[in-house]
Amino acid sequence: MDNIVSLCKRRGFIFPGSDVYGGFAGTWDFGPLGVMLKKNIMDAWWHYWVDSRDDIFGVDAAILMNPTTWEASGHTATFADPLVECKACHGRFRADKLVKGANESITTEEFKNQNPKCPTCGKSDWSDIRKFNMMFKTHVGPVEDDSSVAYLRPETAQGIFTNYKNVVDTLYPNLPFGLAQQGKAFRNEISPRDFILRDRECSQMEIEYFVRPDNWEKEFDKLLAENNKFLTEVIGLDSAKLTHYEVPEKDRAHYSKRTVDFMYKYPNGEEELMGLAYRTDFDLKNIERASGRSMDYRDKNTGEVLTPHVIEPSIGVERLFLAVLTNFWDEEKGILHLPDNLAPYKLCVSPLLKNKPELVKKARKVYDALKEKYTFVTWDDSGNIGKRYKKQDEIGTPKCIVIDFDTLEDGTVTVRDRDTASQIRVKPEEL
Ligand code: GAP
Repeated sequence: MDNIVSLCKRRGFIFPGSDVYGGFAGTWDFGPLGVMLKKNIMDAWWHYWVDSRDDIFGVDAAILMNPTTWEASGHTATFADPLVECKACHGRFRADKLVKGANESITTEEFKNQNPKCPTCGKSDWSDIRKFNMMFKTHVGPVEDDSSVAYLRPETAQGIFTNYKNVVDTLYPNLPFGLAQQGKAFRNEISPRDFILRDRECSQMEIEYFVRPDNWEKEFDKLLAENNKFLTEVIGLDSAKLTHYEVPEKDRAHYSKRTVDFMYKYPNGEEELMGLAYRTDFDLKNIERASGRSMDYRDKNTGEVLTPHVIEPSIGVERLFLAVLTNFWDEEKGILHLPDNLAPYKLCVSPLLKNKPELVKKARKVYDALKEKYTFVTWDDSGNIGKRYKKQDEIGTPKCIVIDFDTLEDGTVTVRDRDTASQIRVKPEEL
């Protein structure tokens, strides 16, 4: 993991948030290469789930939502982690992370039976556990009182649920159908950790898939298989590093009747990459109660009226980003074997020597012609050719095109393959 963190900083994928001021825990900034890789991951998801299907549509809801949203969804009451304080050094921690095998529902008694050592000072003198709500609170408008309290959304899902009726009344989609959203979510995590795995500000890609209540099991299995396909075939993760964890009832979120976590073997151990949850009609019914508006769905063909149930695939962009980096990074060779669809740059053009004007001129011509057509081409004339290959290997560029002295003779250029280091010669028009 340390090597991945250092690669990210060295090559401009990810920097600590507010780095210049000493950082800001739980926040990370994406640099030029990181922005491109992140966008490619998000585009691959959108293309697979939305663009190439007829039954899933996109929305992009506001981050700030009417606070009734979070009352109705149960987040105000239950979106909380177990917090303990070390009485000796006043360090605060998530209780379940200090006890092996524990989960978020750990009690003070269970915690004190184990009496773990404080990770900061080594003592074992603990407060009782108290529930800590993870939503970030803010005030909307110029008056800071109870009436102006709002929250940064802790999940993108609610922006979908609150638009369900708008979409049904404008698109009249047939069941089953889904609504997809990508965007930021905010959680005041007690202990952000493991690089970008647990952040206070993250991006989610979520789908709420509305189904007939009696069909949920079939649709759940279908979505499970489609998510596997997305992760292994579209993103290219190694299926041997992916496992499914059937979350037991006591550990499931308050809204879920079934959850399968997709676990990924990160360098620091196995962690949740994404979740697939059966949310029943929990959210639509709560919105109905809180808003007074019907969330009924009327079947156009049969006239049947029902409240759909919901299956939700939810994945964090940062967790997928880290899975991609660790999956494709070859530490020994220093090569990031990204598939073509994810690589920030697909082609790098360079002159063999940058102090030979005839090579530079020809290389520029090749570069300009490619750049006019494709955004994913980069120019590199820094250092010597060996150093350039090393850099492009590290950032995952599949092909390097080099203009050398033979180019001046016969017009062909060298194309060097990242993964095999093999080289072929082609005419620029054939690139
Ligand atoms: N709408 C359902 C939901 O938000 P979740 O299991 O709390 O469920 C879904 O989050 C996914 O979002 C996780 O599987 C993970 O990929 C990502 N995620 C959640 N909290 C995160 C955090 N603090 N930092 C990075 N990613 C996070």
